[in-house]
Amino acid sequence: MIDPRGRRGTSWDAPFLFLVVIHAASGPGCFAADAPNIVFVIADDLGWNDVGFHGSNQVPTPNIDALAYNGIILNSHYVQPTSSPSRASLFTGKYAIKLGMQGSSLLPGEKRSLPEGKLMPEYFKELGYSTYLVGKWHLGYSKWNETPTFRGFDHHYGFYNGHTSYFDYVGTKTYDGIDYHGFDMRRDGVPSFEDAGHYATDAFTDYSVRVIQEHDTSKPLFLMLTHLAVHAGNTGKLLEAPQEAIDKLRHIEDANRRTYAAMVTKLDESLGTLVETLESKKMLQNTVIVFITDNGAATVAPQFKNWGSNYPLRGVKNTLFEGGIRSVAFIYSPLLIQSGRVSKDLMHITDWLPTLYTAANGDIANLGPEIDGIDQWASMVYDLPSPRNDILLNINEKTRNAALRFYNWKLIVGTSMNGTYNDYYGEAVMGVISETSYNGSAVFDSKAGRVIRQVSYTPLTETEYLQLRAEARVARLDAKAKKNPCDPAGGEVCLYDIPNDPCEENDLAKYFPSVVRRMKRALVEYRKSLVPQLEEAVDIENAAPRLFGFTWNPWLDCKDAVCTIPV
Ligand SMILES: *[C@@H]1O[C@H](CO)[C@@H](O)[C@H](O)[C@H]1NC(C)=O
Ligand SMILES: *[C@@H]1O[C@H](CO)[C@@H](O)[C@H](O)[C@H]1NC(C)=O
Repeated sequence: MIDPRGRRGTSWDAPFLFLVVIHAASGPGCFAADAPNIVFVIADDLGWNDVGFHGSNQVPTPNIDALAYNGIILNSHYVQPTSSPSRASLFTGKYAIKLGMQGSSLLPGEKRSLPEGKLMPEYFKELGYSTYLVGKWHLGYSKWNETPTFRGFDHHYGFYNGHTSYFDYVGTKTYDGIDYHGFDMRRDGVPSFEDAGHYATDAFTDYSVRVIQEHDTSKPLFLMLTHLAVHAGNTGKLLEAPQEAIDKLRHIEDANRRTYAAMVTKLDESLGTLVETLESKKMLQNTVIVFITDNGAATVAPQFKNWGSNYPLRGVKNTLFEGGIRSVAFIYSPLLIQSGRVSKDLMHITDWLPTLYTAANGDIANLGPEIDGIDQWASMVYDLPSPRNDILLNINEKTRNAALRFYNWKLIVGTSMNGTYNDYYGEAVMGVISETSYNGSAVFDSKAGRVIRQVSYTPLTETEYLQLRAEARVARLDAKAKKNPCDPAGGEVCLYDIPNDPCEENDLAKYFPSVVRRMKRALVEYRKSLVPQLEEAVDIENAAPRLFGFTWNPWLDCKDAVCTIPV
């Protein structure tokens, strides 16, 4: 008998397998009633080393780990180095350079927004989905038609800017020495002052739970939960977590790292609660859960430092080194036939649109010829070879910083942040008194772990969890190995063999000049499709929150605080 949910080791007849693929891909909408629910969770500035499944013993993430082990750990998943560019690529399936979004993230009161064009939630709406955005937007709000409910989401509960505070939802930004404070939390465009005091991670989770519980299951659900966690809050109070969560982490001596870790555990609880709710609503069997971070942790950044750790990867948020753009990522779904594995296949954030569209029985021809994302659904479900061999990691024409992956190779040209973080490798054990050992039983017994055991025919054992964990770890080169250092700040071009040198320590450019030439040529080709960065125009005189009852508001459409959202 063929176990329909067999994982690694299950042998499939190749011809049979391809029949299944072709069948699943035929006729968009044919199986609309069966289209899976999609729950897409984005963490903010979460570091590579801040989840247990990558090897950290410091921050317990039992729910995240249980989902990752029982799904597919996507260990070569790349994003953009900052928030707005990553989100722009995710929603459009296009490289940021095609959108003029390859530069910095949006600032409060900045006029820039994601260019017009159909976005991910609109595509899913057309397939009959109910669409929700819960949490951060960060893609523009100078006018109402730039905000989430005008860009494909039926509902939005959350904030417009890149960050806000975790309890009172005030976002502060300083321009020319003046602090601008504004409330930034809304329900379908209406400021929700009543939410003040409710910890953001819990507020977004509770709202998502209600969405799932009240969901009309005759339609599929597209729920995008874009947490504030674990981004820093405002200058002066960068980190915030409920005290009882902080008190559970006494093994971490450094107070900031401890609070950060508590913020991560709240994020982890959120995942456990979601999975339990999906199961109790009998939706989990037909749901795809994706978890990614928008970029690496801002460990030592000049602003929004969050004490996250990308160890042992090089660089931080804002850089094109692995610490900035190789993101924590996994997919979990009972629909994945070959799950319980670590994938090293190249994947880019743009791939989610076509991949999930295919999962939803959509025909990716509808997404147009312009998208850069590649459909990875069949390779995920059946563990087939990935269709992706290269990724444009970015070209920033202003800083002249660019990077590209091509098979095992990564080429980096130029630098960001003046090269300040080019040699930063994070800290293995940041501010820890005693390194606790990894508690596999806690993962096994977490909310998510328990639910998964109920719904799987062949759930993984605790030993298999630990094997996957070992496989998902990356390590620096042997301290004694011969290394060629490279600092692209000095005008050098650096070339790394990432599978063998994940921490970018040994530059091979001079040994493989033809690879360098070929990759530089590819960058020149990509450069031709680059749209110059959209102008960054901060309009703080007109956007100042005090003009609108101390809220960050779509200022160009509003004259005063009673500005209401058009229906
Ligand atoms: C980089 O250096 C320039 C010139 O010294 C300076 O104006 C700029 O603020 C620096 N940028 C960063 C991110 O340090
Ligand atoms: C590990 O987790 C289990 C289950 O949650 C718990 O009973 C046990 O006390 C934990 N062990 C340690 C050493 O913390």
